[in-house]
Amino acid sequence: MGGDGIVLDYNNMLAPRLGGGHGIDPARLDAMAERFRAAHADAQERRRSGELGFYALPDDVETVKSIRQFAEGVGQTFSTIVVLGIGGSALGTIALRTALLHPFWNELGDEEREFFPRLYVLDNVDPATIAPFLDRLDIRRTLFLVVSKSGGTAETMSQYLIIRQRLQAELDDGYVRHLLFITDPKKGVLREIATAEGIATLPIPPSVGGRFSVLSAVGLLPAAMVGIDITGLLAGAAEMRERCDTDDLHRNPAALFGTLQYLADTEKHANVQVMMPYSDPLKDVADWFRQLWAESLGKQKSRDGDDIFVGPTPVKALGTTDQHSQVQEYVEGPFDKTITFLAVREPAVDLDIPKLHAELGELGYLGGHTLNELLNTERLATEAALAKRGRMNMTIELPRVDARSLGGLLMLLEIATVYAGHLYGIDPMDQPGVELGKQLTYGIMGRQGYDEFKQEWEGREPKRDEWIIR
Ligand code: PA5
Repeated sequence: MGGDGIVLDYNNMLAPRLGGGHGIDPARLDAMAERFRAAHADAQERRRSGELGFYALPDDVETVKSIRQFAEGVGQTFSTIVVLGIGGSALGTIALRTALLHPFWNELGDEEREFFPRLYVLDNVDPATIAPFLDRLDIRRTLFLVVSKSGGTAETMSQYLIIRQRLQAELDDGYVRHLLFITDPKKGVLREIATAEGIATLPIPPSVGGRFSVLSAVGLLPAAMVGIDITGLLAGAAEMRERCDTDDLHRNPAALFGTLQYLADTEKHANVQVMMPYSDPLKDVADWFRQLWAESLGKQKSRDGDDIFVGPTPVKALGTTDQHSQVQEYVEGPFDKTITFLAVREPAVDLDIPKLHAELGELGYLGGHTLNELLNTERLATEAALAKRGRMNMTIELPRVDARSLGGLLMLLEIATVYAGHLYGIDPMDQPGVELGKQLTYGIMGRQGYDEFKQEWEGREPKRDEWIIR
């Protein structure tokens, strides 16, 4: 693999490479060309009608201008940024932070961070983390980005209420300067509060779904505030969008990724779809993808309203770590998986392994190589082991882990999700299952009360004491 772009090598998804009746017949992939043309036409139509707003994010120069203005001006007066958000309002920012910042960014001194702020993402609502985190935080020097498209998500809003009370207790009316809301331009309680109190805001376009929002203000504002090259991110995404602007299945990387995964699931029983970066900086891209793939494709209803209960189960893994945890099962367990490796052609750093203990065969073979050689050798060895045992796998190779490549990768996976949604016959943009959980939480916390719900739920028959072991 070479060149300066993102490369998708799917040889090991195909039957000739795997043998033994495993893998997808290339003729079957070719036969999907027509169906893919329809999927592409549908995506283009939905894009034109404004339903798939994420496609247009690389062109949103106005928002980028506001982001830059804030990030380079007022934003730099804070030493810490804390994102309050969950799901699509958090995972993209975490993926960008892990990929594009120093791995110990928040522990670096001010000078080492070139005076850019620290960046934390709260995400979960477990007080075991939040309480000690807040105890250590100097809120007088912190900006809180409250990120919620709906403005009504229980986790984010409860974090907001806690923070707001602390800010007001410490700063009186000064609290306003320490809050910025990223939310729907018109709707929702956050928008209402911001308008009433003069709190700064940035919009999430209504046509951009939460898990597709990383390249909107949701991911771009925190990224810009810590000095990440957001122009590069958007340029990479735009380049990938152009590459995927063809209805020729074999020339469109998002189409190939989406179609191969779809065929693997529906025709080869491979409904467990692992993403396994051999790169620490990319490990949270796998986490971001896990949400994108699961929440978009796991659906009860078809677009026609029939019950179909479809969707692959995405799994994240990390090379080489999970070679010593998961790979045994991937290589020898049931034929129910695909593995997508993420690889990096030109890693930014390397470390020599010294030639010590040369006389000991078990150690001597390592000396004189580098850690990247070891990482890549292990990836190839895992790929070969999987293929030899008839397990489907493919590799997405990035030239480098930089803003441009990352923007391209995120856009590739988002477009692939739209295509896969069409092939499954579902709408990848909605999430009725998540909404159900949100409504239940709202009802229980707001009206019924936790204790009453617990009593009612636990009293539900059949329930026997002998089915509990104490
Ligand atoms: O992709 C989605 O729509 C969800 O995962 C949301 O991002 C998540 O539930 C948070 O919702 P909100 O941004 O409305 O607070």
